[in-house]
Amino acid sequence: MHVGVLGVGRIGSFHATTLSRSRHVTQLTIWDPRIEATDSVASKIDAQVAESPDDLLECGLDAVLICSSSATHADLLEAAVDKQIPVFCEKPIALDLDRTRRLVEEIERSGTPATIGFQRRSDPAYRALRTEIASGQLGTLYLARLVVGDDTPPPADYVAGSGGIHLDQSVHDFDIIRFLTGQEAVEVYATGAALTGAPGVEDSGDVDSAATVLTLSRGTIAVLTSSRHSSAGYDVRLEIAGSKAVRTVGPIDRRDDSSGVGNLATPQGGFLARFEAAYRAEIDRFLQFISGNDTNPCTPADALCALEIAVAATESRHINRPVRLAPSATIARGIQL
Ligand SMILES: NC(=O)c1ccc[n+]([C@@H]2O[C@H](COP(=O)([O-])OP(=O)(O)OC[C@H]3O[C@@H](n4cnc5c(N)ncnc54)[C@H](O)[C@@H]3O)[C@@H](O)[C@H]2O)c1
Repeated sequence: MHVGVLGVGRIGSFHATTLSRSRHVTQLTIWDPRIEATDSVASKIDAQVAESPDDLLECGLDAVLICSSSATHADLLEAAVDKQIPVFCEKPIALDLDRTRRLVEEIERSGTPATIGFQRRSDPAYRALRTEIASGQLGTLYLARLVVGDDTPPPADYVAGSGGIHLDQSVHDFDIIRFLTGQEAVEVYATGAALTGAPGVEDSGDVDSAATVLTLSRGTIAVLTSSRHSSAGYDVRLEIAGSKAVRTVGPIDRRDDSSGVGNLATPQGGFLARFEAAYRAEIDRFLQFISGNDTNPCTPADALCALEIAVAATESRHINRPVRLAPSATIARGIQL
């Protein structure tokens, strides 16, 4: 396959490297407005460099990956779908619900294969837990506790264009709780504060520390704490308590000090290290999906559902009250399991 990559920053260069090692990929073409960085990535992975996004989309691609800054996704996705090029797009589809809904409808109408980058769905641990839950091994699901903490806060310009902590970071947790439990969120309450001093957070009206409570459609309660700075290192954890078992995913090692107080031991290397296998698997699954050999790892409709929860969480934080989720897009569509 000839595959194009738009945007070769942190995640785009990682995905481009994965593609360069794939036995399904024979040719790679990339584009990013940062010319020097693009040339450097291209020389490492033996890729061609396009003149512009239009040039890249016109060069006879079998598939394209959109890994540019969040605010650029919608236009690039629309252009790829217009040309019926199978597309993998990093989350989010767009930063607002109207544009996301319109685009999801357009993608579904056109029939162009499209996958959205929620990589935890391709992580071996979450996939194993989902199988256990679906087979009833946990029994009735009572409570889920989720934790997310970045090892270092993202740069100020990333924060400014990210849509805020719920749209950018918690959206992964909102997606994974749907994926694991098969339940929709029916109510959300969120609160937050700017505590870490991370650059760009207060200036963009965002928070860097947040707590979110979700009520799910079969009654399970999920609680998420989110941070842009975890002093223990990159920290993504989940505990799920059912009537038959309590299961966990994420760092559970503790190094107790002499008083018996535990220090959390997290993996080194941030999100790219923790989810390396998941990122590689999601690209492989995308290539298998567009070749007709696998199901879609994450549909645009699933990404819309996660965005709806993130938008409701942001609203709840601003009005300081719980927000009910309209069932239109979520429950009516059902969950792609
Ligand atoms: N799924 C995940 O776990 C995950 C992790 C990181 C980032 N992301 C998503 O991936 C996207 C990129 O994040 P990042 O951390 O790599 O950011 P980044 O800032 O490191 O890279 C973004 C790149 O996009 C380029 N760019 C800007 N406009 C462009 C355009 N019109 N066409 C092509 N390239 C363009 C920038 O020059 C930059 O090199 C974001 O939308 C983010 O939400 C997802």
